[in-house]
Amino acid sequence: MDTIDAIATKLETRQFDQKKVPDEVKMKVLESARLTGSSNNTQHWRFILLEDPQSVGRLADDSTTGPWVRGANFAVLILTDPKVNGHMIDAGRALQDMQLAAWNYGVGSGIFTGFNQEKLKQDFAIPPNLVPTAALGFGYAAVKKTGKRKERKPLEQIAYSGKYGQPLKMAAAK
Ligand SMILES: Cc1cc2nc3c(=O)[nH]c(=O)nc-3n(C[C@H](O)[C@H](O)[C@H](O)COP(=O)(O)O)c2cc1C
Repeated sequence: MDTIDAIATKLETRQFDQKKVPDEVKMKVLESARLTGSSNNTQHWRFILLEDPQSVGRLADDSTTGPWVRGANFAVLILTDPKVNGHMIDAGRALQDMQLAAWNYGVGSGIFTGFNQEKLKQDFAIPPNLVPTAALGFGYAAVKKTGKRKERKPLEQIAYSGKYGQPLKMAAAK
């Protein structure tokens, strides 16, 4: 899939089909995380792949804003080192690459960031130097969203040219 098409068509998926995602796709997703650049190339992140329904269910139990992950075919928990400047940006870059990689194979995904931190740390043996920053649930979408438009502000409202508030030249020339 063309990268621009992938970005334009990918929407969050929170309702999943029961169909299994092939292992090759799971490996491509993790490989995409591995290949992402991090602050000073520290690669402080760690990724926990959750594949069996019990583990995915435990992740849902430990979440405060992602109970829908229970229906996912698999999930990835992203851990980062809070001592690294920009650790949350690093997590965001890796998770976006994972989402786009999955979408390349028609696999949807959704992110959540609200956890019961202490319970999650205990349940997934997270070492004290790392924090759970985000989690992703993956699977084929139960409801196809293909063709649905994204709810986004127009470019003129959010992007400027040269200084804040100055309209984009190419938008004016349109
Ligand atoms: C940093 C961040 C945190 C998010 N946290 C949650 C979350 O806790 N739970 C959830 O269901 N969605 C979460 N989302 C997903 C957003 O709601 C989603 O990106 C937004 O609604 C756009 O969705 P769309 O691409 O399908 O239009 C989060 C997204 C980002 C970027």
